[in-house]
Amino acid sequence: MNIGIIGAGHIGSALAGRLTSLGHSVYIANSRGPETLTDLAQKTGATPVTAQEAARHADLIVVTIPLKSIPDLPQDLFEGVSADVPVIDTSNYYPLLRDGQLPELETGDLTESEWVQQHLGRPVLKVFNNIFAANLANNGQPAGTPGRIALLVAGDEAAAKQQAMALVEELGFDAVDGGSLHESWRQQPGTPLYCTDLSADEVRQHLASMGTQRTPEQHAQFAANQAASEKQLEAQGVKL
Ligand SMILES: NC(=O)c1ccc[n+]([C@@H]2O[C@H](COP(=O)([O-])OP(=O)(O)OC[C@H]3O[C@@H](n4cnc5c(N)ncnc54)[C@H](OP(=O)(O)O)[C@@H]3O)[C@@H](O)[C@H]2O)c1
Repeated sequence: MNIGIIGAGHIGSALAGRLTSLGHSVYIANSRGPETLTDLAQKTGATPVTAQEAARHADLIVVTIPLKSIPDLPQDLFEGVSADVPVIDTSNYYPLLRDGQLPELETGDLTESEWVQQHLGRPVLKVFNNIFAANLANNGQPAGTPGRIALLVAGDEAAAKQQAMALVEELGFDAVDGGSLHESWRQQPGTPLYCTDLSADEVRQHLASMGTQRTPEQHAQFAANQAASEKQLEAQGVKL
């Protein structure tokens, strides 16, 4: 498959390396231009391109940039890209350390990926947002391995979701249907499913116990968990 990756940081690089090793052709872009990606190209075998080229070459697109940078993507990003090409969004909201406060996400009116979808003007799937890049790169296992990590795939388009779930399995993770994009709050930062590397059974138990409609209490609790974790990272001098 031809895979376009927009964002060549921790997640973009991890995916590029794994996907080329599985035999996919990967086209990767950052904000500074393809000429800045020669080292990454050598390491991963991915082809450096512009963001528009990454989108136009692809059977599947991954957008993996900081949430606050989504509105900076080119207006014509998806020009000439067929409507059936799935778009995966990996982003997370880090208001304190990186993104600043985005009102619709503060109120919980939108999930993070619904916000991304509105800005991109294109349906997205939320995938790969709740596993650390190093674990995505290194901890895939063959199907059936006890304790295999499960990854959620949330989104509204059935065919696109199936393709994303197949890719998750190919990368060595159990793919679990995370429901609609509106329900993807359940895999956002601050929840029990955020970067906890659980098995498929454990993931399904948490999904069931959280329900599908986010209550104001859940929104407040998960936002508080995320704020505490961001403060801890800040105290450790972590920069995103
Ligand atoms: N790190 C993790 O373990 C992890 C895990 C799960 C999800 N996530 C989420 O996934 C997203 C990416 O995270 P990351 O850690 O990979 O980020 P990162 O290491 O900071 O890399 C960000 C990448 O996005 C590129 N970028 C920024 N603005 C762009 C634009 N307008 N057009 C094209 N490329 C642009 C940057 O290119 P330049 O360097 O050229 O500006 C850089 O290659 C974030 O939303 C993050 O919250 C991260």
